[in-house]
Amino acid sequence: MDAKRTSQMIQKLLKLPFRIVRKIYHLCMPSVRRICKPAKWHNFRSFEPISRVFGFDRGTPIDRIYQEDFLRTYATHIQGVVCEIAEDTYTKKFGHNITQSHILHYTADNKNATIVGDLTDFNTLPKEFLDCFICTVTLNFIYDYKKAIKGIYNMLLGGGAALVTVAGIVQVSRHDYDNWGDYWRFMEMGIKRDFEEVFGVGNVESVVYGNLLALMAEFQGIAAEELTYEEIMHKDLEYPIIIGIFAKKQK
Ligand SMILES: C[S@@+](CC[C@H](N)C(=O)[O-])C[C@H]1O[C@@H](n2cnc3c(N)ncnc32)[C@H](O)[C@@H]1O
Repeated sequence: MDAKRTSQMIQKLLKLPFRIVRKIYHLCMPSVRRICKPAKWHNFRSFEPISRVFGFDRGTPIDRIYQEDFLRTYATHIQGVVCEIAEDTYTKKFGHNITQSHILHYTADNKNATIVGDLTDFNTLPKEFLDCFICTVTLNFIYDYKKAIKGIYNMLLGGGAALVTVAGIVQVSRHDYDNWGDYWRFMEMGIKRDFEEVFGVGNVESVVYGNLLALMAEFQGIAAEELTYEEIMHKDLEYPIIIGIFAKKQK
């Protein structure tokens, strides 16, 4: 037993330098890519974007700045029993007085998931259980997204809130397309009305983020670090990139 433990420890120690190098590589590479391949702001005449992964490989995707701003705005509602799609990043970052933190995942291969569920299959979802459901950029990837809105409503306790973001005008997400499908892009008018039909008029608020410059950058996969905060946050409602929906279930 001891020999086995010693050998496991030696193996871990041997792997340590590789893990450190990998960590440093992932920390440095976005900046290296930005320096070696700077955005050509005056020449977008190319079929190939600067990044095909929303700028993840160059830093922070621009839409993440919007999603975080939206969640920060409504952070007082991220409390009690909270559930988030696929991870608990935002629950940890913006939540307070959390009594239970859940992760809902569509497929069974997410080892951190506490609920394996399909938002369109109510039998797989807990009923009237949550104070807050954080659903970031997920409805774009569900064919029957209107049914999914009902699934979200059913999971909430009376007085509970859904904090939802959806993508407006953005490119296809290859990863999602290949895994569960990429079906829709939304406008504020449409998605707000969809939520009002389920949660009731007066119980839904919406916030729109985006502008032409940010949209061009998002299309190119230019990272948030390559624009100023003011450039990212400038609002032009004709170029929606992210739409945030706050929906409250009446008691
Ligand atoms: C782009 S990820 C969004 C989640 C992540 N927290 C984020 O902010 O990036 C899209 C998610 O939609 C989920 N998804 C796709 N179809 C679903 C369905 N029918 N029910 C629940 N989740 C679904 C996928 O499992 C995936 O985790």
